[in-house]
Formats: sequence, C-alpha cells, structure tokens
Amino acid sequence: MFELNGQTAIVTGAATGIGEAIARRLAAAGAIVVVADRDFSGATRMAASLGGASFAVEVDVAQPESVQLAVEKVLARAGRLDILVNNAGIAGRAASLWELTDEDWNKVIAVNATGVFHFCRAVVPHMRERSYGRIVNIASIAGKEGNPRMAPYSASKAAVIALTKSLGKELATEGICVNAVAPAVVRTQILEQLTPEQVAYMTDRIPMKRTAKPEEVAAVVHFLASADCSFVTGQCYDVSGGRATY
Ligand SMILES: NC(=O)c1ccc[n+]([C@@H]2O[C@H](COP(=O)([O-])OP(=O)(O)OC[C@H]3O[C@@H](n4cnc5c(N)ncnc54)[C@H](O)[C@@H]3O)[C@@H](O)[C@H]2O)c1
Repeated sequence: MFELNGQTAIVTGAATGIGEAIARRLAAAGAIVVVADRDFSGATRMAASLGGASFAVEVDVAQPESVQLAVEKVLARAGRLDILVNNAGIAGRAASLWELTDEDWNKVIAVNATGVFHFCRAVVPHMRERSYGRIVNIASIAGKEGNPRMAPYSASKAAVIALTKSLGKELATEGICVNAVAPAVVRTQILEQLTPEQVAYMTDRIPMKRTAKPEEVAAVVHFLASADCSFVTGQCYDVSGGRATY
C-alpha cells in the first residue's frame, strides 16, 4: 500500500543522509523523485542510482530565486508535483548562545526555517490548482525540547513545527496535507558538525538508547507523503525512540 505510482516528489537535501533514505523509499513506492540539493554532483549520482525517471536539480533552499527556479524546472520536466519533502538542513556550530555570532544564527535559520518557507511558497500554488498535495517537513526533537549549545538549530526546528501547523490549517479544505516529522539522533554526516559529547548528550536522552537509522525516518515520511494520509494534517510525528512525551 501507500503506492505512489505516477506521482512526482521533490526531496530537498536528498544527496545523502535522511533525504537519501526518503528518496529511495518514495522511488521504491513508484514515485519519480527529484533529488534537490546544493551538492549537485552528489544529487546527480543519487538520482541516477534511483533509475527510472528520477532526476536531480541544484538548489540552495536559503535562496528564494534558486528555489523558484528549481520548482519551475521540475514542473517543466515532470509536468506535475504531488509531494514535497523539506529535508535539507544544517546543524550549525555547537556553542552557547552568548558565544554565537549573527552569522552563526542567520545561517541556520536561513537554511532550516526560511528554506522550508521558500519551498512551500513556491510549490503550494501548483498543488492548490490540482487540489492535491502532500508536504512533509523534517523538524527535530530539538524543536520541541531545545538542545543546549544548539539554540539556532532548536529555534529553527520549532519554527518548522509551527509553520507546519499554520500551513496545515490554511490548506485543510484543499486536499493538501502538511505534516512534520521530528527525529531524535539519526546516524548521518550531520553529526560530524557536532562534538562527540553533544551526540552522547542527545543519545542518552533516548529511551531506546540508540540512534535511529535514516530508513526508520523514511518509513514515517512515506505514510505522510501518500494518499493514504488523508485525515492527518498539521501534525508533528516523533521518530525519537520514545524521547518526547508530548
Ligand atoms: N541526523 C540527525 O540526527 C537528525 C535529527 C533530527 C533532524 N534531522 C534533520 O534531518 C534533515 C536531514 O539531516 P541529515 O542528518 O540527513 O543531514 P546530512 O548533513 O547528512 O544531509 C543534509 C543534506 O542537505 C543538503 N543541504 C544542506 N544545506 C542545503 C541548502 N542550503 N540547500 C540545499 N541542500 C542543502 C546537504 O548537501 C546534504 O545533502 C535535516 O533537516 C536535519 O536537521 C537530523
């Protein structure tokens, strides 16, 4: 079930990590997947490995013109867009809030929060015209609980959760469902941006006492991206090994 035959899905940040696992899962369910990443060579390799009609586009989610252009390219090539997964994100520099520069703050907010806004704004008019769409935003448990030494990241992910709830309500009668997923620690390259102590702090708080595999996040995204997700919108699903209790 949850089949996606004939549908087109954009997955941002899909050259590697969680985005790659999501792209593989959606492609296996029948979707044409657009691997949208600022790492164009990685995205091209990934898209080629998916086979079928999947393809790559170069995009910097923090730049509105780049996002608009990427969405235009996708529509010109695929003719339709059913699914958007806003997954691209960065951790930023781990430091106490009072040690952060404006640049540290702005960079993380621009990619993680404003990037989701840019992509939703570019894609929603097309989904509204067709009265169908599924948007899945990758937030983080940090956006619910706030991780120390990760204030910009935590704030950006709280913004993603709130944006998801607002947009879900705005589109609730239009056949478009908007949901978020909040993973805890997932074993990907993003962890290289953090110290081992920071990763240990986060893993210790997980009742299952382990990190997640990217595929475990992709499984939840798959449902939220499918037509079977028809009475669920504006929600945030935790993939956290039991960490958050609300
Ligand atoms: N790994 C974790 O523990 C974890 C936990 C919770 C949430 N998340 C979230 O999951 C998402 C994916 O994380 P990951 O661990 O796979 O990261 P990753 O670093 O392995 O991959 C991120 C991908 O996003 C791309 N990217 C980064 N900035 C971009 C930009 N401005 N425009 C376009 N593409 C860009 C990178 O090129 C890369 O391919 C992120 O939003 C992250 O915050 C990760």
